[in-house]
Amino acid sequence: MIQLYDITKVYPNEIKALDNVTIRFPKGSFNFLVGPSGAGKSTLIKLIYREEFPTRGRVIFNGRNVTRMRRREVPFLRRKIGMVFQDFRLLPQKTVYENVAFALEIAGASSRVIKKAVPAALEVVGLKQKAGVFPGHLSGGEQQRVSVSRAIVNNPDLIIADEPTGNLDPETAWELMRLFLDINQSGTTILMVTHARDIVNEMKQRVIELAGGQVVRDEEKGTYSL
Ligand SMILES: Nc1ncnc2c1ncn2[C@@H]1O[C@H](COP(=O)(O)OP(=O)(O)O)[C@@H](O)[C@H]1O
Ligand SMILES: [Mg+2]
Repeated sequence: MIQLYDITKVYPNEIKALDNVTIRFPKGSFNFLVGPSGAGKSTLIKLIYREEFPTRGRVIFNGRNVTRMRRREVPFLRRKIGMVFQDFRLLPQKTVYENVAFALEIAGASSRVIKKAVPAALEVVGLKQKAGVFPGHLSGGEQQRVSVSRAIVNNPDLIIADEPTGNLDPETAWELMRLFLDINQSGTTILMVTHARDIVNEMKQRVIELAGGQVVRDEEKGTYSL
């Protein structure tokens, strides 16, 4: 469902962040993206989300060429992608409910849809009882579950998570990973950047390793490093 073909990305400062990268992410797959800082992981994500354009190559999402999409089509692409970040990126002035609802509002959903979808998305992450609470009153693990709830509320085809457990203790990180596995089992493709060695080693999912902008390893049921 997502294909990167011969992607090269050179930033204006001449830095080559990605160098001839070809990767296919089948529908419903669970993919870890690993590699040292500066390897090109965030750049790869930005190309899928169309925050950046490739210098060469093509990104195909559900059969569409992302690079060639018209600007007015980009919101529809982004609605099909849920994003989760290391630092949660919740709006502190909004309640849990409002944070999740906001993702639907900017997608133009009706209030009838919002009233149904938000409680359902909070239910998935086990936070229905915290709907009226502000993010500042939640633990890190709970805040990340809110951001997962926000990521799934539009029923996306793909969830991209950039080091989602980076700010969580090991036990909380595992709870979050079980949640991602559940979401994956319902058919959502997952692309997760992580430095969590133990988690990658135990989950036995596909591992793609980038180094210096190139794919240096791509293994089914892979490990964090060789
Ligand atoms: N907006 C940018 N402008 C110029 N260089 C960038 C930009 N973003 C990233 N880079 C460079 O591209 C390379 C890859 O960065 P990045 O994709 O952020 O790697 P990672 O996420 O694996 O740490 C690095 O050398 C980084 O400094
Ligand atoms: Mg990065």
